[in-house]
Amino acid sequence: MVKIIALANQKGGVGKTTSTINLGYALLQRRKNVLVVDMDPQSSLTIYCGLDPRVLEQQQRTVYWSLMKEKDMEDIVIPGNPAVVASSIHLASAEPELITLWDSATVLRDKLNSIKNQYDIILIDCPPSLTLLTINALAAADSVLIPVKTDYLSIMGIPLLLDTVEKMQKRTNTRLKVFGVLPTMFNSRNTHDNDCLNDLRQSLEPRIHVFDPVKRSTSFDRSAAEGKSTLELSPETPGVEVYNSLAETIIAYEA
Ligand SMILES: Nc1ncnc2c1ncn2[C@@H]1O[C@H](COP(=O)(O)OP(=O)(O)OP(=O)(O)O)[C@@H](O)[C@H]1O
Ligand SMILES: [Mg+2]
Repeated sequence: MVKIIALANQKGGVGKTTSTINLGYALLQRRKNVLVVDMDPQSSLTIYCGLDPRVLEQQQRTVYWSLMKEKDMEDIVIPGNPAVVASSIHLASAEPELITLWDSATVLRDKLNSIKNQYDIILIDCPPSLTLLTINALAAADSVLIPVKTDYLSIMGIPLLLDTVEKMQKRTNTRLKVFGVLPTMFNSRNTHDNDCLNDLRQSLEPRIHVFDPVKRSTSFDRSAAEGKSTLELSPETPGVEVYNSLAETIIAYEA
């Protein structure tokens, strides 16, 4: 059963947040009760959802307060479609504080336990790092989805991420699966993009599934500025339907 999915890649700007939003929307459209969790101090997901991280921080309603200050998750969730666990820049200071805890890798998992039955699917948007915030997301997840830009420097980081996932599978989270790699920002007319996509498929399949790529389009930037998913704002955008088929795959697993 795939209930909690971490969208992770230590490389920045590969489409983790964009994929969280669009996949979340595709699942909502299929009548799923969705919670999105922002584990990135940059708070892009929080802002994308139309929330103000500074205000939420003042109200002690961000993930930091649950991880580090013993607030119940229930009290910090912002209800809506999707429901949101927000972050703020304060989350950056959780990292050195987490290190001092004996259960530093599993704090998020334990906190989510109290609310996870209220949702069909929980999507966790990770920061661009492989430090304790991402480790906590991987420890809490049933499955990890790896968005990756189809460029050379981005695909170079995949082995290190898979290595980390393997270590998690051996020690902290034996049920963690790799849901697959999701190529993003793909330009089919660019030879380099095609070479990278082929490289990804050849090096990973059949061990790890490589989904059809999400094509590059300026619609994604536009929808981020409007605070709506691209699926909702511009459903005709080429490639955006990949998020619909991902949602279908998740639901098929769930059944
Ligand atoms: N398919 C796409 N085509 C064009 N632009 C895209 C696409 N997907 C995402 N983008 C844009 O690329 C930028 C980075 O995307 P996003 O913020 O989702 O990446 P990220 O991996 O979450 O970044 P970070 O590591 O900083 O959290 C954003 O400006 C977003 O609008
Ligand atoms: Mg992001």
